[in-house]
Amino acid sequence: MKCRKCGHEAVINMRQHKLALCSEHFLEWVPEQTQRFIEKYRMFTPDERILVAVSGGKDSLSLWDVLLRLGYKADGLYIGLGIDGGVDYSNQSHEMCVKFLENFRSQISSVNVTADDGPQTVNTQYLIPKLHVVDIAKLYGETIPDVAARTTRGRGKPCSVCGLVKRHVMNRVARDGGYDVLATGHNLDDEVAVLFGNALTWNAGYLLRQAPMLPADKPGLARKVKPFCRLYERESAAYALVRGIDYIYDECPFAEGSTSIAHKEILNQMEKDSPGTKLQFYLSFLRAREQGLFAEQAAHVELNACEKCGQPTSAPGLCAFCRLWERRITKDE
Ligand code: AMP
Ligand code: FES
Ligand code: ZN
Ligand code: ZN
Repeated sequence: MKCRKCGHEAVINMRQHKLALCSEHFLEWVPEQTQRFIEKYRMFTPDERILVAVSGGKDSLSLWDVLLRLGYKADGLYIGLGIDGGVDYSNQSHEMCVKFLENFRSQISSVNVTADDGPQTVNTQYLIPKLHVVDIAKLYGETIPDVAARTTRGRGKPCSVCGLVKRHVMNRVARDGGYDVLATGHNLDDEVAVLFGNALTWNAGYLLRQAPMLPADKPGLARKVKPFCRLYERESAAYALVRGIDYIYDECPFAEGSTSIAHKEILNQMEKDSPGTKLQFYLSFLRAREQGLFAEQAAHVELNACEKCGQPTSAPGLCAFCRLWERRITKDE
């Protein structure tokens, strides 16, 4: 298989795009595509400050790398969840984020960025990114698995509590740090699996909140973007590999057996039989959403500010995050 651009040996063949590329051209293609999506969905502009939520996985570290190489002012946020799972999961993930930043700093003294008047070489001294770290156990006294074990929300699995805590902390750090926008590494496979799940139950509220860019339309909410939402998981993994980014290969130990993994398997089978299925499904959804298919529901969502933290909540009084820590009951009580 030859690279379509230069004829050298290709490192990746993307059947859905009918495109094979060599390493050099693939490393150019990913940032070009990302930049296209950033503009298309009006995610952010070069003068805005971005907070990238990094989990230590391939998607978020690749995203951070791409945004920095595109010349964006992007800091990282790692949330320590206190998950061990026999593989020291959280500590290893944290280490990957720290390592990424060290490598990035040492490798690059200057980067080529594209400005309005063409490509320029910019000294990265002033672009050197920061990594914010929030350790949940240190801050709130309990790890995610511990909180999940004493609340009904977890029902034995910490994923729901974990999602709630991550969303809250990301939003808080973005807001308190004066960032214009919060970026996550969700890729097309993630987005399509969520979409598939929500479409099975026609959950209009969730469908309405699923988008490449969610504006900060409520007080206390940060704008949220997913610049990799049209990039296949395989492409983002290949980017990390070819770029030499070290990332945590293990999935979260609690993800095993989850519905979203089951949905991903079904969707992979469909993609294999008909390349491009996932992308078409996602793009058709975005089109329908834009045309107002779920707009009716929007009018019915009423949010109040949480009495304690100020973040929007549908419940009166405290938000779900604050209730999580308020209702603290020790096991022997
Ligand atoms: P997940 O929900 O694990 O599929 O992760 C989706 C996205 O959320 C990742 O691409 C990251 O941007 C972000 N994320 C997940 N876990 C963490 C974490 N521990 N700290 C910071 N960001 C995270
Ligand atoms: Fe939160 Fe798995 S990452 S439970
Ligand atoms: Zn090439
Ligand atoms: Zn609250």
